[in-house]
Amino acid sequence: SKVKVLLTGGAGYIGSHVAKLLTKYDYEVIIIDNLFSSQPQKVYGRFYKSDLREEGKLLEIIKKEKPDIVLHFASFISVPESIEKPFLYYENNVGNTIKLLSAMKKAGVKNFLFSSSAAVYGIPDIIPVPETAELKPINPYGETKAIIEKILRDMAEAGEINYISLRYFNVAGADPEGEIGPNYKQPTHLIIRALKVAKGEIPYLEIYGTDYPTPDGTCIRDYIHVMDLATAHLLALEYLLSKGESIVLNCGYGRGFSVREVISVVKKVTGIDFKVIETKRRAGDPPILIADNTRIKKILKWEPKYDSLETIIKDSWKWELKQK
Ligand code: UFG
Repeated sequence: SKVKVLLTGGAGYIGSHVAKLLTKYDYEVIIIDNLFSSQPQKVYGRFYKSDLREEGKLLEIIKKEKPDIVLHFASFISVPESIEKPFLYYENNVGNTIKLLSAMKKAGVKNFLFSSSAAVYGIPDIIPVPETAELKPINPYGETKAIIEKILRDMAEAGEINYISLRYFNVAGADPEGEIGPNYKQPTHLIIRALKVAKGEIPYLEIYGTDYPTPDGTCIRDYIHVMDLATAHLLALEYLLSKGESIVLNCGYGRGFSVREVISVVKKVTGIDFKVIETKRRAGDPPILIADNTRIKKILKWEPKYDSLETIIKDSWKWELKQK
């Protein structure tokens, strides 16, 4: 019979790309999503509109579906918001993950794939940063991911679960087939915002800080195409189900682009010379985040296929143009 995969946040940006890929590979896909942050045009798999806070409902779904593995995407993801409202982030990200793990325990589900973040590293001492680096997040968002990883490590050590934690760097781009893409109600990410400025939906783009210790003074990030990230999930899931070994893996390409470089590629791809304003730093931003991806390439035999900032931005632009 088919392998059953339950995705929390499976109607969101990253979750929906993974759900689509799993459907293609003949997995049975079950989605739990509260549709709080996203407005999906398409949901893959069997859909439960539900909030993880509702423990009774959650347990009922997990007991009924009995998935082989849970992929946990549902999360709040804004760094500045997490600084303004830390408890909201601890409650939603940490609290709901505990509720989810509790329901899994009661239903006898042991395999867990967690959406972690490069934000757990804070300002790393080594760049590209390996998974073995010390976790010292500089904002509550990153702290929530580090706390959950700690819980998972202890539980796995005691044999209570098997897990893979994927530490995403800066996920961008959209489904090359154009069916899905970022569907945030309030987009904050650089590439999405820049494209919305090019489209005329936002009057200008702000650069948050030009005095960082980087060659052009703006922050550097490792932008990874959402399809390569989706493939990493597929490989991780297969690995966990066959080997049962818990691991933590960086998901990035191992190279970075500054905010100014991103803006120049967005202008080139769209052919639109939009307005850019230099403003002060945004709280909680590390200057440089680049992944050391040696481990994921070796362990999962992951081979990126979309490692080009231009491809990432082209796919995002195609998606943006299709939206009203
Ligand atoms: N930026 C701007 N202007 C904007 C938006 C962003 O200058 O309008 C800058 C940011 O200050 C940052 C860079 O562009 O220097 C990238 O910002 P994003 O908001 O696109 O992404 P972040 O690096 O802040 O965060 C993202 C995810 C997090 C994740 C993190 C890990 O949102 O969930 O990557 O690297 F944890």
